[in-house]
Amino acid sequence: MKISGKDIVVTGGAGFIGSWIAETLSSENKVTVIDNLHTGKMKNLKGFADRIRFINADIRDREAVFEGVKGAELVFHQGANVIIQASIDDPKMNSEINVGGTLNVLEACRKHDVKRVIFASSSAIYGNTEKLPVTEDQDPSPLSPYALSKLEGEKWMKIYSEKYGLETVTLRYFNVYGPRQYPDSPYSGVISIFTKNIRTGKPLTVFGDGEQTRDFVSVRDVVNANLLAAESRKGVGKTFNIGTGKSVSLNEMISILEKLAGKKTKVVYDKPRHGDVRHSRADITLAKDVLGYSPAVSLEEGLKELLFP
Ligand SMILES: NC(=O)c1ccc[n+]([C@@H]2O[C@H](COP(=O)([O-])OP(=O)(O)OC[C@H]3O[C@@H](n4cnc5c(N)ncnc54)[C@H](O)[C@@H]3O)[C@@H](O)[C@H]2O)c1
Repeated sequence: MKISGKDIVVTGGAGFIGSWIAETLSSENKVTVIDNLHTGKMKNLKGFADRIRFINADIRDREAVFEGVKGAELVFHQGANVIIQASIDDPKMNSEINVGGTLNVLEACRKHDVKRVIFASSSAIYGNTEKLPVTEDQDPSPLSPYALSKLEGEKWMKIYSEKYGLETVTLRYFNVYGPRQYPDSPYSGVISIFTKNIRTGKPLTVFGDGEQTRDFVSVRDVVNANLLAAESRKGVGKTFNIGTGKSVSLNEMISILEKLAGKKTKVVYDKPRHGDVRHSRADITLAKDVLGYSPAVSLEEGLKELLFP
């Protein structure tokens, strides 16, 4: 999928996922990044900073968002408070960014006749599900203010699509991993930590028994899903799971890492983390059928890239 000649905004574009979207699009489009560098970093823009316009602004700042979005055709809305614990400590702050900030983005799009918005939602909206793999029609059961705010964001996307004719597409990312992810990311930070510790010969700490499972998806596949969502005619107004459709336990992942690194590593089992879901796996049939999404990076390939950068 290739997008060219467009005026594009990426909110949260100095973050892990946003910076890959911005970089991918920056060679053939006019890209603006809006980010307040809360968890994002300027170093994520290294190598393509001169090809983009960077606006250091908070998405809670309505005027800045309106100014940044002016003239854009397409917006990838990735900016958010992503720290679940911070959302629990300060739910109002979380809501102001993830719901209020999202509304600023949507209002700016309405005012400036933006064609389409792609929204980064999360598998966190499902909570603990009995049925796996989880399909998009599963009743949501958010377990944190963060998850609730993502669900609210999704609902606002739908309202703007139905009431104002703004084309919106929502992507529910599962556990995204890859280069530029910071180790304390609540999603796949575990992969950044494990690969770093194996490289430096440090032990790995597992919270719980290591039998919890996750659907880890490479950031490269997530970028591709965003590009497909930006172009798809049938995807408008819809919500899609973006994972791989496969899951592994942390213990299985450690075995894969040890095999790739060619060495055994010390594993320390600690108390389970409160609020972690036990199992997670996406049903990606809808994204396959409607968007033509097909994850291409195997976990082995993705881990190898992080182990041997
Ligand atoms: N990483 C995952 O596995 C995953 C899974 C599900 C959903 N998501 C969603 O994907 C998006 C990107 O997440 P990520 O993993 O790249 O995290 P990230 O922290 O690297 O990116 C978030 C970006 O948003 C910016 N930001 C935060 N508050 C802001 C504010 N008030 N104004 C402007 N910018 C602000 C941060 O500085 C950062 O650059 C988020 O919306 C997140 O909720 C990520």
